[in-house]
Amino acid sequence: EHRIWFDCDTGVDDAIALLTAHRQPGLEIVGLSTVAGNVTLDHTTENTLKICGLMGADYPVYPGAPGPLRREREDASSFHGADGLGGTVLPAPRRAPEQTPAWDALYEAAARMPGELTLVATGPLTNAAIALTAHPALRSLLRGIALMGGAAVGGNRTPCSEFNIHADPDAAEIVFSSGIPIIMCGLDVTEQAWFSPAEFAALPDTPVGRFARAATAGPMQKNMARGAGGLCLHDVCPVLYLTHPELFTGRQAGVHVETRGTVTYAKTVTDLDSDAKFPERNVFVVLGVDRAGFAAHITEALSSYAG
Ligand code: BDR
Ligand code: CA
Repeated sequence: EHRIWFDCDTGVDDAIALLTAHRQPGLEIVGLSTVAGNVTLDHTTENTLKICGLMGADYPVYPGAPGPLRREREDASSFHGADGLGGTVLPAPRRAPEQTPAWDALYEAAARMPGELTLVATGPLTNAAIALTAHPALRSLLRGIALMGGAAVGGNRTPCSEFNIHADPDAAEIVFSSGIPIIMCGLDVTEQAWFSPAEFAALPDTPVGRFARAATAGPMQKNMARGAGGLCLHDVCPVLYLTHPELFTGRQAGVHVETRGTVTYAKTVTDLDSDAKFPERNVFVVLGVDRAGFAAHITEALSSYAG
């Protein structure tokens, strides 16, 4: 049983992650918050509200940070489209964004259920960092943080840095040094976590199936052009890790974020093969996934929405 707070920068794979999370037995979404990342905060908030409408859910959505703690904002609109959802047309949101800032809403939710709430973060970690700084008690209130970000090896934004970390490395280091148990789904696992064109084609002809196909068409082409087997659904990994950990492999390791490097800027420096060079093994680093099982659970979740 997991109760989660979902913090996202809704882009295409965040959207599939939300749709998948909503249909997981044993997982309760307590609240949602949004952050600037793939696109601006206004777009990520509107996209998140529209996805809630698509799933027929009435979750409150709390907007958070419009940009990183101390850096220039960067985005990934070249991949996710100018609106963040590949130009798909969805009905206007049925609900307005909440007024309480994301970091206060997260803290208040965690305080209502001490030790029970897991933060799932699929965008830059700005909101989480602000929450931890503004409310130090949050450290002992959260059950854990399951995030998509970073990589033990490699990068997609630079040779050694992943987008969510590169967008706000200072925030990421606040989170990684918080002492909260962290599950890191970095590129090591998420680049194995793809969904093929045939799997998208086989989704039912429902609003959710049609949305999934339309939103992913552009990003799919870009992924396939790089020789991938399909579109990497990075942000689904922390969701399905919580509900189906048997699909994944990984190990406990020390991880910290380089905030001052030049070529190594925003690398999640991961001490996988030793346990002594960082003081603590603070992170469970997810490294592998049963790709077919992962895709089957997504197919099941997306297919469960009504026509
Ligand atoms: C991450 O970056 C974003 O573009 C995706 O939504 C995902 O969270 C992958 O590097
Ligand atoms: Ca994301």
